[in-house]
Amino acid sequence: MTKFIGIKACVFDAYGTLFDVHSAVGKHRAGLGDKADAVSGLWRTKQLEYTWQRTIVDRYVDFWRVTADGLDFALDAHGVDDSALRDDLLHAYLNLDCYPEVQGVLGTLKEAGLQTAILSNGSPMMLEAAVESAGIGDVLDATISVDELGLYKPSPEVYQLAMDDLGVGRGQVSFQSSNAWDAAAAATFGFRVAWCNRFGLARERLPDAPDVEIRTLEELPAIVLP
Ligand code: LAC
Repeated sequence: MTKFIGIKACVFDAYGTLFDVHSAVGKHRAGLGDKADAVSGLWRTKQLEYTWQRTIVDRYVDFWRVTADGLDFALDAHGVDDSALRDDLLHAYLNLDCYPEVQGVLGTLKEAGLQTAILSNGSPMMLEAAVESAGIGDVLDATISVDELGLYKPSPEVYQLAMDDLGVGRGQVSFQSSNAWDAAAAATFGFRVAWCNRFGLARERLPDAPDVEIRTLEELPAIVLP
């Protein structure tokens, strides 16, 4: 089994890794009928595409705005014109379900003396709401948002921000993401990386590969704890 040696901090991506992004649509499935899954998928795809585009063309706006823009595109593309439903969906993003193992795993890592942190594209307001609603504030040492940089992942400055905030070296960070492109970029940066491949997706063809692939975060403590 792969072991990461000398880890001092476990840093987690938020959306898709700790929080289930599809639970927003899940809570309002009735309003979308048989378009629900397609809208949810397109919403997430557009949200991410807009972060990449805005970073490259240097037109940063925060993730709340990008999330709203992605939702508006997805609803428009599927011919859904319902402003009350749109507002309900957007606000559901503040109360996403967290995956069932998250609280226990974060607690185990923290109890063992590792720092635990979120490193996310999410704006501080969004992350604060999601952490609070999931009740995981007491098992997190830090919630770090890209917002202070005005750049989105996978800019290397974002991964550097976690190192600087937590006061640890590159090789002392174990980074976890379910987003394969985020995991790859963190590996390029020099973190030890666990790709949490919750949905059994194919491997990316990107410059650097994560060190280990896990199915849920349940597998993490055995990898990072001595
Ligand atoms: C985040 C996105 C990438 O939380 O899921 O940063």
